[in-house]
Amino acid sequence: MSSLRMDRRLVCLALLGGAAGWTGQAGAAARYDDKTKVFRLDGGDVTYAFGVNAQGQVQSLYWGGRLGDGDSPGQPVSVRDHSSVDLSVSVTPQEFPAQGGGMFVEPALKVAWPDGVRDVVLKYVSHRVTDQGLILRLKDIERELYVELRYVMDPESGILARSAVVENRAKTPVRIDQLAAAALTLPIETDYRLQYLTGRWAAEWTVETRPVAPGSTVLESRRGDTGHQNNPWFAIDRDGVSDEETGPVWFGALAWSGSWRISVDQDTLGKVRVVGGFNPFDFAYRLQPGQSLESPVFYAGYSGQGMGGASRLMHRFQREKILPGGPKAPLRPVLYNSWEATEFAVDEPGQVALAEKAATIGVERFVMDDGWFGARNNDKAGLGDWTVNRAKFPNGLKPLIDKVRGLGMEFGLWVEPEMVNPDSDLYRAHPDWVINFPTRPRTQGRNQLMLNLARKDVRDHLLKVLDDLVSQNDIAFLKWDHNRNWSEPGWPEQPVEDQQKIYVEFVRNLYWIIAELRRRHPKLEIESCAGGGGRVDLGIMALTDQVWPSDNTDPFDRLTIQDGFTHAYAPATMMCWVTDSPNWVNKRTTSLEYRFLSSMQGGLGIGANLNHWKDEDFATAKKMVAEYKTIRKTVQRGDLYRLISPRDGSERSATLSVSPDRGQAALFAFVHSTTKLDPLPRIQLRGLDPKATYRLRAMAGAADPATLAQASGAYWMEYGLDVALRGDFQAAGFVLDATA
Ligand code: GLA
Repeated sequence: MSSLRMDRRLVCLALLGGAAGWTGQAGAAARYDDKTKVFRLDGGDVTYAFGVNAQGQVQSLYWGGRLGDGDSPGQPVSVRDHSSVDLSVSVTPQEFPAQGGGMFVEPALKVAWPDGVRDVVLKYVSHRVTDQGLILRLKDIERELYVELRYVMDPESGILARSAVVENRAKTPVRIDQLAAAALTLPIETDYRLQYLTGRWAAEWTVETRPVAPGSTVLESRRGDTGHQNNPWFAIDRDGVSDEETGPVWFGALAWSGSWRISVDQDTLGKVRVVGGFNPFDFAYRLQPGQSLESPVFYAGYSGQGMGGASRLMHRFQREKILPGGPKAPLRPVLYNSWEATEFAVDEPGQVALAEKAATIGVERFVMDDGWFGARNNDKAGLGDWTVNRAKFPNGLKPLIDKVRGLGMEFGLWVEPEMVNPDSDLYRAHPDWVINFPTRPRTQGRNQLMLNLARKDVRDHLLKVLDDLVSQNDIAFLKWDHNRNWSEPGWPEQPVEDQQKIYVEFVRNLYWIIAELRRRHPKLEIESCAGGGGRVDLGIMALTDQVWPSDNTDPFDRLTIQDGFTHAYAPATMMCWVTDSPNWVNKRTTSLEYRFLSSMQGGLGIGANLNHWKDEDFATAKKMVAEYKTIRKTVQRGDLYRLISPRDGSERSATLSVSPDRGQAALFAFVHSTTKLDPLPRIQLRGLDPKATYRLRAMAGAADPATLAQASGAYWMEYGLDVALRGDFQAAGFVLDATA
């Protein structure tokens, strides 16, 4: 074997030493050093750098904690072939590796030309420093195929938005078989650990951990939508070095609600590369001369403060830079939703009765779920017919909406616009509107088929239906559901070579419909729901105000679901309902206070059948809703500390939310089941102002009787708090308010 090996030295160490000649001021998002051909982006506590080597390859150099302004983040080099089987192109860490020239690492771009050539070698052409980052232009060594790499650095969080646009300027079409937004390279380490989110219906948001070892881990959805099975988020930390609050964590999330893929590979020389973008599975996108294709955005961040620090950066970034309304977005109102109480059996008197009861406990938004339209008495019929069911609502929705508004609440409605039951007027009129392959069966999921939103007529129809619904009724909120994945993903009206564009055009038109609907109705809010948490990603979040993480409303299961969710996404978006006990999922019985405390860690909703509540339930609920309103800003806008994880069968768990000014903190503590009078560890808080004095107040449950009524932030963080929790499924909640 040794005869195969070649000189491993790196050669052509370009332009070592010398003073940096940065274009762009220190503190700017991006700078370029013409002398060393190094690009550098700085934001928050993060520096990201790459350069152009003598071969014209755009080479990754550094991604991690922020370097000094004058420091060099490394030098681009020409990397020699490692051996006759690992050529330079494979062992050079590239910002955007294209499939060609003997490369065997995961590509960001793969194409096929009509003459049979399936080879791209990209070289740097030019760049432009923008206000927020950089745009680089690359070109194939021979053909008129260009790639624009876009970099936008968030100055506060250091989260980098990367995307790519491939443009065909040749005289023939070219087929894009694979397009990622970015390849990200980590510094060489041997102890990397990948964390990612998996799940299934009613069991979303499980945090999985595995070592990063030679080989590949693929996180993906082949389902046409984001999917429950994997979420487009990853984090890589260092085993034994990083934990919840310390150590380095590299993380990222794809803003795409269609089939996606993130691959994490360790190459033959130990370099870890993360490539994310469109899923190449069944992908083909033909570009005619002059056409281009833009990838989704891959957001990438780094924290030196462990997974908790990484989550807090993501939460803040989402609140301020992704979600509609940004920092000025309203807080999530307390909502009531009828689904678990009535399922499809909605009608005017029943909904009015629930609304009257909901109003008494402080609910601010009343949402009628499935069952109000068409022939929708079960899940077998009606989807697609978005007209009011006159048997259930003889006078339309107006009397119910007027009643809800009169009770001081907003009105919201469930819709599932992308779907159709074969037993519907819409499908009978337009059987060609669904995704299908002619001659093949049309596989149903929950008795429904999927409309082909890539078609302009379908897109325009849906916008009109939704626009009419919102224009003709006083509707503040839509719960936008999506209850199945794709099958037979055909678009028969297109030429065969363009049919797979459906993977891109469907999602773009979905985004277009929601964006246009919001433009026409600026006060309308929307929740992204997909059979629970099947469509939660930064793409849909840019257009929706909140998401439904799971149909599983068991308040104990929810602790792990919410723990997993908050690894990637902000509590401000995470809707949590108080439902009936025993809960339908596990038949588990919990107190109403436990259910409230579980749900108060995100956007609070109530989904119980209020017709079954006793007076004392209403009294408890009224008190807890009032408590929630005193802490909701802290929960939704504050910094989250996952103090004790509920995962891995933990007996206890606790979260703490601290307001940005550190004036308030909300603590939620739970036990699963205590045994043998085992002593319970004290809970030490985090993130408080050590010098401020905080007064402690219990929302529910109690602290140990010896607990101080007020003490310094240092005391609560160092000494801590003894929470008196014994038994099964017990919970306590506390507020700490800084005294003036
Ligand atoms: C999905 C949603 C539920 C509910 C039902 C209605 O399962 O996740 O919350 O809206 O659809 O059919």
